[in-house]
Amino acid sequence: MTSPLALFGGPKLIPTPLAHFSTIGADDIAAAVAVMETGVLSAYIGAPGPGFMGGPRVRALEAAAAARFGVRHALAVNSWTSGLIAAVGAIGIEPGDEIITTPWTMAATATAILHFAGIPVFADILPDTFNIDPRCVEALVSPRTRAILAVDIFGQSADMAALRDIADRHGLKLISDSAQAPGAMVGDRPAGTLADIGGFSLNYHKHIHCGEGGILVTDDDRLAERLALIRNHGEVVIQSEAAEDLANILGYNFRMGEIEAAIAAVQLTKLEERVASRQRAADRLTSALRELPGLTPPYTPQGLTNVYYVYGMTLDTDALGVSRNRIAEALRAEGVPAVMAGYQNIHLLPAFRRRIAYGTGGFPWTSPFASIERHYGPGLCPVAEKLHAETFLGLNLCLNAFGDADVDVVAEAFRKVWANLDALRDAEPIRAHG
Ligand SMILES: Cc1ncc(COP(=O)(O)O)c(C=O)c1O
Repeated sequence: MTSPLALFGGPKLIPTPLAHFSTIGADDIAAAVAVMETGVLSAYIGAPGPGFMGGPRVRALEAAAAARFGVRHALAVNSWTSGLIAAVGAIGIEPGDEIITTPWTMAATATAILHFAGIPVFADILPDTFNIDPRCVEALVSPRTRAILAVDIFGQSADMAALRDIADRHGLKLISDSAQAPGAMVGDRPAGTLADIGGFSLNYHKHIHCGEGGILVTDDDRLAERLALIRNHGEVVIQSEAAEDLANILGYNFRMGEIEAAIAAVQLTKLEERVASRQRAADRLTSALRELPGLTPPYTPQGLTNVYYVYGMTLDTDALGVSRNRIAEALRAEGVPAVMAGYQNIHLLPAFRRRIAYGTGGFPWTSPFASIERHYGPGLCPVAEKLHAETFLGLNLCLNAFGDADVDVVAEAFRKVWANLDALRDAEPIRAHG
């Protein structure tokens, strides 16, 4: 006999909120203080000279990141949003060019494309990994396609081999938004390093962070040079008059400060430990939840590792006879933290549906440069839309510590909800949470 659900007035299974995930230790604090004591909080100069590439902490972070991820170049930026904008600019996109990306991401992936008057084209996702579906990408390649911008959603790599194949056959660049997947592996290569340009977010919620920041990675010398120019007012240092050298390098300041760089360098040394703790939590959760009927735990394809920024599940709501939103509501009522009922569908945001980016006239979609009409709205990405509306259930693992005891009590809350499915089925519809 199980106790009644907290949703229906029963005792709450997790009465005290779980501890937040805190990543800052004495070593991070010491690193920040050491920078303060120098009095030089940023050593960048937006002019020709040694200061153009940043100060000693920025460079040390870049050297450590290049070694850690096994790439020729790592460039620190003040956010991964800045990194994405720099990446799109660096590949030499022209106004009206298209970049194929995924609707299941944070908005910055798609808006980075708009920064250069490019047109985001959304390909549907795979129902098991939630990453971009290469077959949908291939179907959307047009004469205007310039690149594929894949996202390693929730902590595991998109199918980079298939995307690379498409990119090579159509002469496209491949960019990887690995914001959520630092430390994830594709065979023996780190996620983020299989694209022409990839990189990671260092914002507060990520595995490793310095408040705000990002790291770009590339093996391509020319792209690295262009990224560095876009990062720091490149227009003032370029002597060439060639259009292809000057293009897309106008007026940005994406420079990371010395304090953030010093913290990020310490954080980088903790990546292994953070990844291991997330994987341990996720594996423990999976052992418990895989017995629940109608629930599919995260799926990781052969050869990949998942670093579990989010623990992403799907529900067979037909078999369960209860809606995903109602199950999420019941879990939240039991005190399960960070329950996600759905994720994002960027193609359904008002800015995209109404095609309003610059001014009110629909630019860049309505500009003469954009030779293909692209519209956004329901039906464009049916797999992503159904997952978001009905079947995806996530746990935002990045928000809480999720030690063994936390995982066990969360699993217990799931079991309690599953033991009370009849009561949920019989109950009146409950207000849905997005
Ligand atoms: C997939 C993805 N792309 C881009 C970003 C933007 O990164 P930042 O917050 O560092 O600008 C995020 C941040 O959450 C993200 O998860």
